[in-house]
Amino acid sequence: MPPQQPAKTESSGAKRSPDSSADTGSHSSTPSALRRVLITGATGEIGGALARRYAAKGTTLILTGRKQRKLDGIAQQCRELGAEVECTVLNLCDEETLLTWLEEVCARGVPDIAIANAGMNTDIGPQGNGERWEDARRLLQTNVIGTLGMAHHLALAMKARGSGQLVLLSSLAAWHGLALTPSYSGSKAAVKAYGEGLRSWLKPFGVGVTVVMPGYVTSPMCEAMPGPKPFEMPADKAAQRILKGVARNRARISFPFPLNFGCWWLSVLPAGISQRLLGLFNYTH
Ligand SMILES: NC(=O)c1ccc[n+]([C@@H]2O[C@H](COP(=O)([O-])OP(=O)(O)OC[C@H]3O[C@@H](n4cnc5c(N)ncnc54)[C@H](OP(=O)(O)O)[C@@H]3O)[C@@H](O)[C@H]2O)c1
Repeated sequence: MPPQQPAKTESSGAKRSPDSSADTGSHSSTPSALRRVLITGATGEIGGALARRYAAKGTTLILTGRKQRKLDGIAQQCRELGAEVECTVLNLCDEETLLTWLEEVCARGVPDIAIANAGMNTDIGPQGNGERWEDARRLLQTNVIGTLGMAHHLALAMKARGSGQLVLLSSLAAWHGLALTPSYSGSKAAVKAYGEGLRSWLKPFGVGVTVVMPGYVTSPMCEAMPGPKPFEMPADKAAQRILKGVARNRARISFPFPLNFGCWWLSVLPAGISQRLLGLFNYTH
């Protein structure tokens, strides 16, 4: 079956300028330097906040999400901030469509910054009966196959050009698996390890890779998550931290500090001790 065409909703309407930054590899944020910033999951809280923060004159935003109206709304906000916007309704689980779309995007100009932000969560339910396998499977398809597949293809395109910045959204849940959200923890551990590997591989070719590991950020996904949510922060604050770290090509952006520090310990302590600690903090069912 031929791949389904993703629904491209609208471009900025303005004639697209030649992507000079694609040739020079410039990541400059000066208004005169045109740059292309791709963000998946722009209809979500973190993705939307990132889009608005990157929106500026001289920037073309390439935004995706599944909810057309929400995507159009975010795109409009970004245009009002001076950015050109291309948006596409896209399901990351549809691999063929995703790859076709990536080829089209790269043909117009390989993104200077690409943020694999879209993701989902599921949990073992209020009675602790376990995840529904259909949900866990969809989660792995979205958070792992979709995300890594996208990163793989963009990595090759950026490597060929000799510049670019890949940004992968992991989570503090990647430091140690959580009983309430085992598939999610596993998916984010995969994203973390993959991003770290890509970074070492791509460094000699002028391509940066950043793994982002947020704690609790206010969003529908966070709200739906069971268990305590210490140090929860607004999405815009998280976006601000991400932008700052990406601009510095940081290998890892993990926050907030106290939660990151605690979760990091869980990954270095003997697993038996970590699991007892998680129980003490009510993170077991
Ligand atoms: N919020 C937190 O506490 C937290 C903590 C650590 C890491 N993260 C990570 O941060 C990222 C953004 O999360 P968020 O909190 O902003 O969540 P959110 O508000 O629920 O947004 C999730 C985004 O992902 C998109 N998405 C989900 N499944 C998709 C699929 N199959 N194909 C295409 N797009 C899909 C959604 O699109 P539609 O809404 O249009 O369907 C939405 O734009 C995720 O990767 C998440 O794991 C979040």
